[in-house]
Amino acid sequence: MIAILGDDVISVVADIERKKNITKAELQYLLEGNEGELLGQRAAAVRQEIYGQAVFIRGLIEFTNYCKNNCYYCGIRRGNKLAERYRLTEEEILACCQEGYRLGFRTFVLQGGEDEYFTDARMCHIIRSIKEQYPDCAITLSIGEKSAESYQQYFQAGADRYLLRHETANEAHYSQLHPAEMSLQHRKKCLYTLRDIGYQVGAGFMVGSPGQTVDTLYEDLQFLRELKPHMVGIGPFIPQHATPFGQKPGGTVERTVTLLSIIRLLLPHVLLPATTALGTIDPVGREKGLRAGANVVMPNLSPKSVRKKYALYDAKICTGEEAAECINCLKNRVESIGYTVVCDRGDYRP
Ligand code: 5AD
Ligand code: FES
Repeated sequence: MIAILGDDVISVVADIERKKNITKAELQYLLEGNEGELLGQRAAAVRQEIYGQAVFIRGLIEFTNYCKNNCYYCGIRRGNKLAERYRLTEEEILACCQEGYRLGFRTFVLQGGEDEYFTDARMCHIIRSIKEQYPDCAITLSIGEKSAESYQQYFQAGADRYLLRHETANEAHYSQLHPAEMSLQHRKKCLYTLRDIGYQVGAGFMVGSPGQTVDTLYEDLQFLRELKPHMVGIGPFIPQHATPFGQKPGGTVERTVTLLSIIRLLLPHVLLPATTALGTIDPVGREKGLRAGANVVMPNLSPKSVRKKYALYDAKICTGEEAAECINCLKNRVESIGYTVVCDRGDYRP
């Protein structure tokens, strides 16, 4: 591979940084573990130039685990009869925000399955109530594929950001991960619609999902370059025992961290979380992610009583802790590696 590239790791990383692009050969070279520490160091330096030592926090409120979709990887898929379903009431959601605000959160992420109980009217009511009480906070939605009209209504009600991972940018791979009623084309259309409406948009994918190859990852990176999202969420695939992928191997820490660094070099300004999934497969996974270019963490604000039920994957961390415990734990972790948790909205810096 070195011969093909005609170069060593220093020039490969410099090349990616300069062009803000990557070739398939370079990607393969880095994924084979050839980068040593250099890639992570360059990614951390790029992130430092734009965001300094700041780590932004987002309070995650998992408000429903009902879902009409049946993605093969996900623990809250409709076909999982073992999932204990729950919904939070608007009052419960507002109570999460109140506690979150007290703890210093200025972004609330409302995440849930695609749950038809939460009609546009209900969603807009919730969004307006939060904005009324916390006008200095940003609201991020993560509730899946909706019509352009719905996205528009949430935006008008006050939602600022939207997370919708594309999961894979390769058609054949997309259909290995999802039933036939879902399509990559529709997913992409949703992302472009959200961007056009004016949301700060987040895409992303799981690392090590069944069927993922260097080629599909290359397509993911090229798609991200094209979409230019404000946020990119990536974390390792972790098998959930009651799904069709329950016996598949999970993604690795090394590959996830390498991809975080590459994404930082391709999209220097991106808001990039060190995800809970990364912290689940390695006790210091989130720290590794932050040192390799990530700059966001998303601790859980959901009530302790429902946390175990939002089980997208097995052995998820932080399901037994109160919000206050998690934020303290994360502050210590972030500070232990020389970064600082910042209590503001943490908007994208263009
Ligand atoms: N392992 C890791 N991540 C998962 N997600 C869903 N199921 C799993 C799993 N088994 C991710 C998907 C989704 C996000 C909310 O969680 O990428 O977009
Ligand atoms: Fe939740 Fe450490 S972040 S317990």
